[in-house]
Amino acid sequence: MCGIVGYVGKHAASSILVEGLKHLEYRGYDSSGIALAEGNGIEVIKKTGRVAVLAGLAQKHASKASMGISHTRWATHGGVTDENAHPHLSWDSKIALVHNGVIENYKALRTFLEGEGATFRSQTDSEVLANLIAYYYNLDETAQNGNRLVCAVRQSLIHVEGTYGIAVICADLPNEIVGARKGSPLCIGVGHGENLIASDVAAFVGRTQNVVYLDDGQIVHLSREDFSITTIAEETVSPVINQIDWKIEEAELGSYKHFMEKEIFEQPQALENAMRGRFSDDESTAKFGGLNLDAREWRQVDRIVFCGCGTAWHACLVAEYLIERFSRIPVEVEYASEFRYRNAPLDKNALFFVVSQSGETIDTLEALREAQRKGFRVLGITNGVGSTIARESDGGVYQHSGPEIGVASTKAFTSQLLISGMLGLYLGRMRDLSFGDGREMVKAFKSLPGLISQILDQADQIKAIAERYAEFQDFLFLGRQSMFPIALEGALKLKEISYIHAEGYPAAEMKHGPIALISEQCPSVVLSPHGDTLKKVMSNIEETRARKGRVIAITSAGKDFPDSAADDIIRIPTAHSCIMPILSTIPLQLLAYYIACKRGCDVDKPRNLAKSVTVE
Ligand code: F6R
Repeated sequence: MCGIVGYVGKHAASSILVEGLKHLEYRGYDSSGIALAEGNGIEVIKKTGRVAVLAGLAQKHASKASMGISHTRWATHGGVTDENAHPHLSWDSKIALVHNGVIENYKALRTFLEGEGATFRSQTDSEVLANLIAYYYNLDETAQNGNRLVCAVRQSLIHVEGTYGIAVICADLPNEIVGARKGSPLCIGVGHGENLIASDVAAFVGRTQNVVYLDDGQIVHLSREDFSITTIAEETVSPVINQIDWKIEEAELGSYKHFMEKEIFEQPQALENAMRGRFSDDESTAKFGGLNLDAREWRQVDRIVFCGCGTAWHACLVAEYLIERFSRIPVEVEYASEFRYRNAPLDKNALFFVVSQSGETIDTLEALREAQRKGFRVLGITNGVGSTIARESDGGVYQHSGPEIGVASTKAFTSQLLISGMLGLYLGRMRDLSFGDGREMVKAFKSLPGLISQILDQADQIKAIAERYAEFQDFLFLGRQSMFPIALEGALKLKEISYIHAEGYPAAEMKHGPIALISEQCPSVVLSPHGDTLKKVMSNIEETRARKGRVIAITSAGKDFPDSAADDIIRIPTAHSCIMPILSTIPLQLLAYYIACKRGCDVDKPRNLAKSVTVE
């Protein structure tokens, strides 16, 4: 939520900042802006609308400044206006600041600063911080120039309640940026003769592969040649430089129209990556390098709690089905946002998993911290290499899905399902799952890339179906057992990118209420895999059609599901039950995508949403 980029170096900062913002636009797209250190002060250009609007303005301005900060906004405090866009200048125009997070005590700070003569141009909490830093900067006229800005930032942050990732520049210091974080991600791109600061490595991976991730409570002081990190408590930090393991080309659209489309079609490769090197030599179980628990410790685990938000929460629900079925270990699933506040009674030998594509979702991160505070071991399943969740968890599994840019999560979700299934296998083989059953599961996982490609080959047929349904305003998604969370995910995909109202239900629950919604105006998408519950689901379809509700069925049941059994049928391969949730997801993603395209929606940047939710 909100993207920050700062640059100090030898090149014109303006185009580097705009380019960086383009790669962070998934974090917010209400408005954007840049502040450039010109010889005679700070120039701010900001505007509501997409980064493309800012790019046009910045090009006209043609600045040669070689240092600046920039921001793309997802509004929290204050509406979407030019004044509320970042960067914010202090009242004396000395300090410019970009901020991601929420300053909770901004009202009290604003009252104090107004008493000291500060004036305000916006309704944001962030402008208060710009003025507070200017206040301390002006107080401390005797300090060395560089340290003076660091001191002013440190002094200010001592008084701030809330969360922040910030980058700050000062009109007196054309070669210095100060950044700090608490609760909102921030990292440093270490270049040659230039340094960058950003919310996410995507902003600078085109310029450098060297990254230093900042931790909460740290302040960084950047110049063209150097950088140093201290804490708010004034301790010196020795930085660890990591290598980014992907290239900028992976975050480009290529020949695709949307990132969501690209990421749907990347799934065979993404799942291949998630499996690589993760099966035992005899191919009867999975293996994971980073769980940091030995077999004896695993035997002591008598309950697993999964936490996540949104699509990741749906992955947790699938994990519950798969892990319970194959390992018989009881699993509970918690909304990360609820877990922190509800003080749930927990078994002594419980183990936690947090699931997060970005690794930065604040609710999930706080759930992790709450569980650790209570003495539990927390493992992370995340795609965000070096993310806060990856760094703070006690071990975990990287998804290796590659960058996911589309706001609607697709390939990250199916990778999470795969890892959950592989965990079910791994834990099952430590208990009662036989060698033969293990081998069957490994075979099934390995067949996934090919089977997904077969479904993707039907994209044109699915598109034709989608276009026939694009005008409806309400949808139901139904499924049983592990298909129930897939129904929830199908409904979420549709509503977030096409703004169609959609609900996911366990198919058998339909008769207990939702059946009242069925009419010619409300079609249903019914997940109808082969297996024990097929006949029951087919009865649910009959009941729906008897009430004139149209049905799109997704089935792997072959001849057992005749063409006449639904209005439209998407046939998927028959496979082991451990991979059916993944195979069933692909047509739902394509349906949502093509319906949204037909309705002319902005698929990659749906209204009101941002990809990485770093405010509570
Ligand atoms: C929906 C979607 C969101 C995220 C949720 C958690 O398509 O992407 O619901 O799943 O915001 O995000 P992560 O996984 O980054 O923690």
